[in-house]
Amino acid sequence: MAQEKLIIFDTTMRDGEQSPGASMSKEEKLRIARQLERMRVDVIEAGFPASSDGDFDSVQAVARAIKDSTICGLARANEKDVRRCGEAIRVARSPRLHTFIATSNIHMEKKLRMEPSQVIDQAVRSVTWARDYTDNIEFSPEDAGRSDIDFLCRIIEQVIKAGATTINVPDTVGYTLPEQFGGLIKTLRERIPNSDKAVWSVHCHNDLGLAVANSLAAVMNGARQVECTINGLGERAGNASLEEIVMAVRTRQDIFTCDTNIDATQIVPASKLVSGITGYPVQPNKAVVGANAFAHESGIHQDGVLKHRETYEIMSAESVGWATNRLTLGKLSGRSAFKSRLQELGIELPSEEALNAAFKRFKDLADKKREILDEDLQALISEEGIDHVENQHWRLVSLTAHSETGEQPYAKMVVSEAGKERACDAQGSGPVDAAFKALESVANSGASLLLYSVNNITSGTDSQGEVTVRLSKEGRIVNGQGADTDIVVASAKAYINALNKLHSKAERVNPQV
Ligand code: KIV
Ligand code: ZN
Repeated sequence: MAQEKLIIFDTTMRDGEQSPGASMSKEEKLRIARQLERMRVDVIEAGFPASSDGDFDSVQAVARAIKDSTICGLARANEKDVRRCGEAIRVARSPRLHTFIATSNIHMEKKLRMEPSQVIDQAVRSVTWARDYTDNIEFSPEDAGRSDIDFLCRIIEQVIKAGATTINVPDTVGYTLPEQFGGLIKTLRERIPNSDKAVWSVHCHNDLGLAVANSLAAVMNGARQVECTINGLGERAGNASLEEIVMAVRTRQDIFTCDTNIDATQIVPASKLVSGITGYPVQPNKAVVGANAFAHESGIHQDGVLKHRETYEIMSAESVGWATNRLTLGKLSGRSAFKSRLQELGIELPSEEALNAAFKRFKDLADKKREILDEDLQALISEEGIDHVENQHWRLVSLTAHSETGEQPYAKMVVSEAGKERACDAQGSGPVDAAFKALESVANSGASLLLYSVNNITSGTDSQGEVTVRLSKEGRIVNGQGADTDIVVASAKAYINALNKLHSKAERVNPQV
């Protein structure tokens, strides 16, 4: 039977970016976008251009760079947002404009303070403005999961008439249950007279842990686009995770009448990239991309898998990209081997200086670690960002840490603040605590530490530790990352990275606030 296509719309760089501290720089968005293109994602929502000049630039840069995926930008339903978004995406080979307005009674009354008829007018006007930029227009009735069905039918019919080609039904607050949400899609498709003129899409949040189940129920009822994110990143409890949607549909082809174009072997590299850039670690038992997703602990399971893999595995680790843990480079590798491996990994450095600086970091790492794997290279690039580390306000110059049984741990450091070196030292309950106290003694950021986590990037005791530090100050939350074979150094780098993000003061408006 000929398969229908299920469109994969990735919103890691828009809804995913709404996770606290997960905001991404232009270079980071370009790296993620290239990986999504390599994975053959159909539509990439690159950001919300009206939120800040920085995000406008990022969306435009992604729109220019990506050729094989459609590039989408989000706009609230007002002329300023729509036009700003239109300017950012119009340079894409295949642009899409996504506009939305809330349709539930609670949102219309309490948030928008608009009458339902005004909401319909504003939605229709926005779709009409969007047509100045592209014919590929998506409309979302925000909080559809809690909206009145008659009102949804009215507004959707009108926006399709005005030119919307994709209707995306969001369960914005993750409230619905699978049967109910599937039924909603079915009813809307049956009741709206021009429903066949648009592709039906869904966008589910995970507040009750049902985002994937709800999305799949919608697919069974005719949705042919799913909005999702790598690792399920997103506002609050996140969105439906791309890897789970793609692998559920692919693994259960006996049930689904559609399939995606996704190259699933790119899933694990994408997961690691997004986790490294955002500082959101992947839980070990996470489906598909968690470190234990294919690990068999019990003897009975191990025995079964060795005899016949399908006894306990419904998909193979290789099919989702787990085999990419390759030995790539070593101490004797030259600059051109380094450069070509980065290219194979989709990492493009912005200049020769950036390449030279990265190559120097690679050589330093190769002195400490015999085998450099792809994951090490990814971390090496993410660690200080492809943005020039020299331009950062705070920079680590040197660090000495001392810990001895029965002695109070101690850290002594030199950091550079806007190019000027400053020495600092402190004692702490451990060497990491001491290093953070030393840093605070010069930075005086006053920020609170919300999270400190360490993960090993590869296996073995010579692995680099990848540290995430989450700081909060005056309502702003930032994540900093650092990687090194010495976890005290990795921790100091992560703290400094977070201080730099606080210092950059890059603020963005959240589209739903
Ligand atoms: O959750 C939501 O409703 C959204 C819309 C903007 C699609 O993110
Ligand atoms: Zn959302």
